[in-house]
Amino acid sequence: MRQAIMLSPGVIEHREVQEPGQLLGNEVLLRIKKIGICGSDVHVYHGKHPATPYPVVQGHEYSAIVEKVGKSVVKALPGMKATGRPQLVCGECGPCKRGQYNACQKLKVQGFQAPGVAQDLFVISEDRLVVLPDSMTFEQGAIVEPAAVGAHSTGRASDLKGKNVVVSGAGTIGNLVAQFAKVRGARKILITDVSDYRLDIARQCGIEATLNITKTSFEEGVRSFFGDEGFQVGFEAAGVQISLDVLMKHMEKGGELIILGVYSRNPIVNMFYLGEHELNVYGSMMYRHEDYEQAAEMISSGKIITAPLLTKSFPFENFTDAYKFIEQQGDKTMKVMIDL
Ligand SMILES: NC(=O)c1ccc[n+]([C@@H]2O[C@H](COP(=O)([O-])OP(=O)(O)OC[C@H]3O[C@@H](n4cnc5c(N)ncnc54)[C@H](O)[C@@H]3O)[C@@H](O)[C@H]2O)c1
Ligand SMILES: [Zn+2]
Ligand SMILES: [Zn+2]
Repeated sequence: MRQAIMLSPGVIEHREVQEPGQLLGNEVLLRIKKIGICGSDVHVYHGKHPATPYPVVQGHEYSAIVEKVGKSVVKALPGMKATGRPQLVCGECGPCKRGQYNACQKLKVQGFQAPGVAQDLFVISEDRLVVLPDSMTFEQGAIVEPAAVGAHSTGRASDLKGKNVVVSGAGTIGNLVAQFAKVRGARKILITDVSDYRLDIARQCGIEATLNITKTSFEEGVRSFFGDEGFQVGFEAAGVQISLDVLMKHMEKGGELIILGVYSRNPIVNMFYLGEHELNVYGSMMYRHEDYEQAAEMISSGKIITAPLLTKSFPFENFTDAYKFIEQQGDKTMKVMIDL
């Protein structure tokens, strides 16, 4: 079968490898159809991911068809559409024992610290399998992963019902966070970015209120949209200092701040201000299985809109071209996929 392996930053080799052998009872053999590329993959491509050794087989957001199932598998039958959660966890550490396995002390993510799915066939254990409805496209199936990030992060703080929310950053993640905030009954949602292209996509996905902070200041935009109500919850999905600063500075006292961003430069936080305003800060790390299932359900029911997020697909053989395209297009791309 075909496999794409990144030997060193920027160098992808296509090679023939042996197909997986006999399945264990709880294992499922998947035929990979589409693989999404995200910012973390791009960091690996550039040699700038802090926790990925080479060589590495990439691919952690994907859709597939079930090819074969082990003897004890009950969730799926051959021919069904599916995706899988890429987290390998120990099951024994404190976080794992209390069900917070997304923050496992020994977490390995497939495509980074363990081999990913950039090959024709891939084996996963049934507990990480999510069966997708037949009506779902393979593109939608590959967006379940980032959508699950939206599902998880919007469940981190208190109930969003009736709250006013700002999502800072309208990349794929911010977009899906904002859409999930809507699903969870937030009252008013404002999404901000520095790119009109990305804010336009947010509007196409049903997030009507957008703010380009290079044209109107964050403070002014927030005041004119929320008025005296202000906002109570902020999601930091840009991964830059200034985005964190404005969320903290302008949210209501006692507000909640959920951190999604991965910061290439460690931000400085005014802890006195944070304490004095009794702000609550929550980390958010990937997702758990129920987030994956909910993401699949919301995409399938049309409550989460994905079509505007899809920029372009590249054939498997042209994996490197996908990265070159992302480099050239800059902020004019959202989700680029590899088609097997
Ligand atoms: N916590 C998690 O589980 C998790 C999972 C996936 C990705 N991430 C991280 O979440 C962040 C967003 O991911 P993405 O794939 O959407 O990345 P992205 O780079 O596509 O999106 C970031 C967006 O922020 C915008 N931006 C830049 N400066 C801004 C500012 N001052 N105010 C508002 N917006 C600004 C950019 O224009 C861009 O549209 C990244 O840091 C990524 O590493 C976290
Ligand atoms: Zn990703
Ligand atoms: Zn663990």
